[in-house]
Amino acid sequence: RKKVTIQHLHSLREKGTPITMLTAYDFPTGRACEAHGIDITLVGDSLAQVCLGYDATTRLTLDEMLHHCRAVARGSKAPFLVADMPFGTYHAGAEDAVRSAVRLVREGGVEGVKIEGGREVADIVRRLTAVGIPVMAHVGLLPQRQALLSGYKVQGRDADSARALVDSALALEDAGAFAMVLEAVPRPVAEHITRSLRRAPTIGIGAGSATDGQVLVWDDLMGIWDGHKARFVRRFGNVKDEVESGIKAYIKAVRERSFPDDTETYGMREGELEKFLQ
Ligand code: KIV
Ligand code: NA
Repeated sequence: RKKVTIQHLHSLREKGTPITMLTAYDFPTGRACEAHGIDITLVGDSLAQVCLGYDATTRLTLDEMLHHCRAVARGSKAPFLVADMPFGTYHAGAEDAVRSAVRLVREGGVEGVKIEGGREVADIVRRLTAVGIPVMAHVGLLPQRQALLSGYKVQGRDADSARALVDSALALEDAGAFAMVLEAVPRPVAEHITRSLRRAPTIGIGAGSATDGQVLVWDDLMGIWDGHKARFVRRFGNVKDEVESGIKAYIKAVRERSFPDDTETYGMREGELEKFLQ
């Protein structure tokens, strides 16, 4: 596969070809993004919940994120590789952000980083871009602020907050963001932002079909669990049922001693069994 670059992503936007982004958390999921044509692989901090069992992304440390970035990077080579900057790794100022982002690039092997926030993080985007680290912005619903926002809620439903989102999007592009995630914003607001940006593609999740691309969480797309499903999730796979039937069939075969059978078992060399039993 040909390497996906920022220039390529920008050309997809210009041609009107939707950009596909998918999260990955380990070597096999990274490999799958590589093998099946995903444009951007994101090591999302959703890692905290879907892989590590934490109750919020705010629990995730930079070292935990790095451990998973290294695994994804070994599998995902052609897609543009982005990692979320975990909560608390860029809040103490631009130098704090540079230190954390440098670790994600150097030790994690990612090419770009994603930062949640509106115009208040524009200075950080500007600083990271200045040192040569591409930044993907993330506006709308910001899971790292779910406590402050009293939960996971759609953003920009009234005119004032919609205007604030547009304002942030423009400031973030101006600061150098090469692309932007729009999470849980009304379709017309996402469409307006997409039209207003000069070159940064918008990647939507719960933002409608007018964005320049879409992103989903691996586990949601694959149907790994059948618990709460956000309105914007579509389950394209049904891994949960595959896992259940696989495990049940395994337990049954072991209990009835039909696994392993002779073709799944080793014998001894010719004549050795008799000697062994003497
Ligand atoms: O952490 C994540 O998976 C994300 C995507 C949903 C955009 O930030
Ligand atoms: Na995230």
